[in-house]
Amino acid sequence: MKRRLVRVMTPVALIALLVVLNNSTAASKPSTTAADGPALFNAKCVICHGKDGAGLPNWRAKGQPDFTNADWQKSHTDSQIADTIKNGRGKFMPAFKEKLSDDEIVAIVGRVRQLGKRK
Ligand code: HEC
Repeated sequence: MKRRLVRVMTPVALIALLVVLNNSTAASKPSTTAADGPALFNAKCVICHGKDGAGLPNWRAKGQPDFTNADWQKSHTDSQIADTIKNGRGKFMPAFKEKLSDDEIVAIVGRVRQLGKRK
């Protein structure tokens, strides 16, 4: 009797576990919708880099670059920018690797490039 219950319950438990796992990965990584670079940039970066990416005066004084500057854009590759977002830079640029997925970082790099094309 006990054995038969185990035999019935095991698949049920497995299915329940799969449902839970599936939901949690879906929630943390919306793989069906591409990450929204501009929205992420507004949420995470604008407080220091400004809406247009030109930087804010107090941060500029600490070595922050102007993303609208063509020379800055030319002298940095996408992977360098992604690396800065992931790992941070210097004393003040925070690392985002714990907070953003790779897809989100790629989308934000795209946004940084867009800001360079504004001028
Ligand atoms: C707390 C303020 C702050 C926040 C938030 C912030 N940054 Fe920065 N960022 C800085 C500062 C300051 C620097 C200059 C760092 C240095 O070179 O010492 C910098 C530098 C950079 C650089 C230049 C790296 C290079 O090689 O010249 C990039 C790219 C960058 N930030 C992107 C981002 C992005 C994208 C976000 C949002 C995900 C972000 N930052 C959020 C302050 C910030």
